Amino acid sequence: MLTVKDLTNVKGKKVIVRVDFNVPLKNGEIRDDNRIVAALPTIKNLLEKGARVILLSHLGKIKHKLSEEEIAAAKAKNNLLPVSLRLAELLNQPVTFVPVTRGEELDEAVAKLNDGDVLLVQNTRYVKGEEKNDPELSAAWAKLADAYVMDAFGSAHRAHASTYGIPSILKEQGKPVALGFLVEKEVLALTRCVKVSDEDRPYIAILGGLKVSDKIKVIESLLKKCDKILIGGAMAFTFLKALGKETGQSPVEDDQLDYARNCLAAANGRIVLPVDSVIANSFDNPTDIKIVSVDEIPADYQGLDIGPKTRELFAEEISKAKMVFWNGPAGVFENPAFQAGTLAICEALAKLSGKAFTVCGGGDSAAAIKQFGYAKDFAHVSTGGGASLEMIENDGHLPGIDVLG
Ligand code: 3PG
Repeated sequence: MLTVKDLTNVKGKKVIVRVDFNVPLKNGEIRDDNRIVAALPTIKNLLEKGARVILLSHLGKIKHKLSEEEIAAAKAKNNLLPVSLRLAELLNQPVTFVPVTRGEELDEAVAKLNDGDVLLVQNTRYVKGEEKNDPELSAAWAKLADAYVMDAFGSAHRAHASTYGIPSILKEQGKPVALGFLVEKEVLALTRCVKVSDEDRPYIAILGGLKVSDKIKVIESLLKKCDKILIGGAMAFTFLKALGKETGQSPVEDDQLDYARNCLAAANGRIVLPVDSVIANSFDNPTDIKIVSVDEIPADYQGLDIGPKTRELFAEEISKAKMVFWNGPAGVFENPAFQAGTLAICEALAKLSGKAFTVCGGGDSAAAIKQFGYAKDFAHVSTGGGASLEMIENDGHLPGIDVLG
């Protein structure tokens, strides 16, 4: 596969770069510009080489089945204009914002680009055919470009027009398609987590978050690759109930109990579950919080974090690892009363810094790492939650990356 470094002859060429600028916005203000910063090396590299850069990104979700008013409200909320302003600050050069996704206004803005100029097109999800990889839409976008660079790792699990349709067409036309620096880095790190070499053992996965059903495929895949899987978060309660324990009001997926039992049998002792839990009488208004063994959860309480003995147990397992893949917090870390478990995992992984290959698979655990100030201690913190999980599930394959090969 080509990478952006291989595109040496792009002076005066129009290059579409698919980026993931799906940043959290509150009242039109960007709360975390990480994803914009992460795309800068690729954009700068192309601009320095004199390319005319056309950026495409999605932002949020727009359900086209809703009423016209609801669609209009979603479009107003998910406008990429504030992102173009932040990008201009970060690049220290003007960024033309095109408030439409296709048509004359876009064609004219592209025609006006000079070498080293950059424009950002309005949210790709404003258009109906994007998520269906509509061939007509893909062709309309592909017509704008001489080359394509994929730097939206967070969207690489989507076979949409902007992530799949455009590069398929340009490839057929013999035009260059390449990986950006961010995607290249993500692919290298996550491929190491699926093609495990002996020097990376013991290899430990840490899984958390709410639902077992969201992680079925990833658990199956990790069971084949890992030496141990530590399970925390709400999903641990489905496993504990599968072992016959009383889990009180803790969130349990009853339809996944058989699956959990099968996993435990297949793991043959390699799945490590919590031994104690921080429980409370309510999720929204916890007025009574206590620590109990997982054998003693009262019927009217629910578990909201792993307890101190589990923190020690997990830290002990983590300290032996040569490689770790972590996805999903150990508790409700947004509430200080239930963040000790997630914090303890951050601390245990930080102690491995420089000694083991530690990867965080994006999403909520990446947000926790950032909130607690541990990002610098990890070998890799992915920018894609769904994409990194699918990469593990599919043995290193994602449609938005495979299409470039
Ligand atoms: C993400 O935030 O995980 C990516 O930007 C993908 O977003 P999506 O799930 O809306 O496609």
